[in-house]
Amino acid sequence: MLVEIADVLSRDDVTRCRQRLLTAAWVDGNVTSGHQSARAKHNQQLPEDSAVAREVGGAIVRVLANHPRFVAAALPRHVFPPLFNRYGVGQQFRAHVDNAVRQHRESGARIRTDLSATLFLADPEDYDGGELVIEDSFGTHQVKLPAGHLVLYPASSLHHVTEITRGQRLGAFFWVQSMVRDDGQRRLLWDLDQAIQGLQPDKADHPSLLGLTNVYHNLLRRWADV
Ligand code: NI
Repeated sequence: MLVEIADVLSRDDVTRCRQRLLTAAWVDGNVTSGHQSARAKHNQQLPEDSAVAREVGGAIVRVLANHPRFVAAALPRHVFPPLFNRYGVGQQFRAHVDNAVRQHRESGARIRTDLSATLFLADPEDYDGGELVIEDSFGTHQVKLPAGHLVLYPASSLHHVTEITRGQRLGAFFWVQSMVRDDGQRRLLWDLDQAIQGLQPDKADHPSLLGLTNVYHNLLRRWADV
């Protein structure tokens, strides 16, 4: 499933992140690539051990931990520390798959990449091209969101970033190991959660709401690895 999450960062947070990121030393994006994606990838990244990447990435992870929509959609068990990339004119990332397992360089911790996430840090009007294009069993989706918004999608999908023809695309990207490994099960939980949330304002006292919430937790109990 593909879930867009608005306003993960406020405008002020985005401005602060951008200012910090501009001070950092950017390198060729292939520092994190496997063999296949090295041929496909043309962008710049901050190194994993960059102090700025750690600081801004840490702030993003703290925000996400308290973001109800992110938590409900991803059911996160581990979040890989966010990395940062930027694409200038003529740069792109051709079709590729993300590695199934990623190891954090310093801690050695490994996570299974169930979900991929992109947090947009430039506004759509500031660049042309740069759409994130995701292919899944329901077809092809093009995503280009306002700064501060995030998209979550199955890491199992083929995806690419189209060539930039004007301006600069700046973003954070990371992976999530979910408590619920299976995308279909996670989707059912998300749909049920959203239906329950939809009943909350005016049907908060309806006895069926408690029943549905019970079903939600019993499914999560059945499927979650914690
Ligand atoms: Ni990717």
